Amino acid sequence: MKRIVSGMRPTGRIHLGNYEGALKNWVKLQDSYKSYHFVADWHALTSDYADTSQFKANTMMMVTDWLAAGLDPHKATIFVQSLIPEHAELHMYFSAVTPLGWLERVPTYKEQRENITDKDLGNYAFLGYPVLQAADICMYKADYVPVGQDQVSHVELTREIVRRFNNFYGQVFPEPEALLTETPKLVGTDGRKMSKSYNNTIELGDSPEAIRAKTRQMITDRTRIKRSDPGHPEDCDVCQMHRLFVPAEVADQFDDDCRNARIGCVDRKQALAEALIEYLAPVNQRLDYYREHQDEVRDIIIEGSKRAREEAGCVMAEVRRAMKIDWQ
Ligand code: TRP
Repeated sequence: MKRIVSGMRPTGRIHLGNYEGALKNWVKLQDSYKSYHFVADWHALTSDYADTSQFKANTMMMVTDWLAAGLDPHKATIFVQSLIPEHAELHMYFSAVTPLGWLERVPTYKEQRENITDKDLGNYAFLGYPVLQAADICMYKADYVPVGQDQVSHVELTREIVRRFNNFYGQVFPEPEALLTETPKLVGTDGRKMSKSYNNTIELGDSPEAIRAKTRQMITDRTRIKRSDPGHPEDCDVCQMHRLFVPAEVADQFDDDCRNARIGCVDRKQALAEALIEYLAPVNQRLDYYREHQDEVRDIIIEGSKRAREEAGCVMAEVRRAMKIDWQ
């Protein structure tokens, strides 16, 4: 089986956007790829080093959501980056062969340096963020990296680091490729992209009441003032989102009723809420279980990390041999 590696920074609760964009895909891929999924807590450290108080709690929450989504610890190796110190060692070797110019040119680096003002990003680790990511990916000799478009430049840099490393020390690592999933960007309850930092998310584990309340706030066709006005589903966040969660015929019928003012925006919001509640029901059922069984979640993390570490140990032995810094 080909191998995939992907991680997420420990941001806490997973929202519907993360689920649709990444997690659902991981769950699907675990049957056809040898899968490694980890919480990138060292990546969080590169920008949030000043306050690490929530790292562990957020890690537990995130893995709880992964398991609720259906990620299966018997199929995928689920682990925490900081429990595998080999990632730091490989990061060190990779940092030696990575020209500074490559890092300064990474688009996400430039963007974040320009746009993020509430955190200090002038530290050494932040510049090296993609080198650490390359180490994560290569540690398990990934063939593919399932990520969103925003991470493609990091996978590209990983390939360049691999080429340079293999060129110096021999063919150790395969060149990984991004495995892009085409998922529509979900809009949040305020019309912007769904994102934790905008506080506009629907989260896995939101109660039916919370989902109904959140969908009620969502933005509909701004030109439809009165219920008797014809609606424009193509300009309506609620209609667009509803379409993602019901069969096409159902969405078509709702669109038609909206255009002909047979239903109002409130009706469509209610339909969306009910569709989401039904869609998330199996996830929420598992979530109830894992929230009650946090010890089990912890054991899964520890066990998965042990497995990952064995694998990492083998790869590092090979790396040290290739680099002629093997002493035993
Ligand atoms: N940088 C990724 C993100 O912000 C997280 C990440 C860290 C990652 N290491 C990785 C993703 C390795 C894929 C593979 O989403």
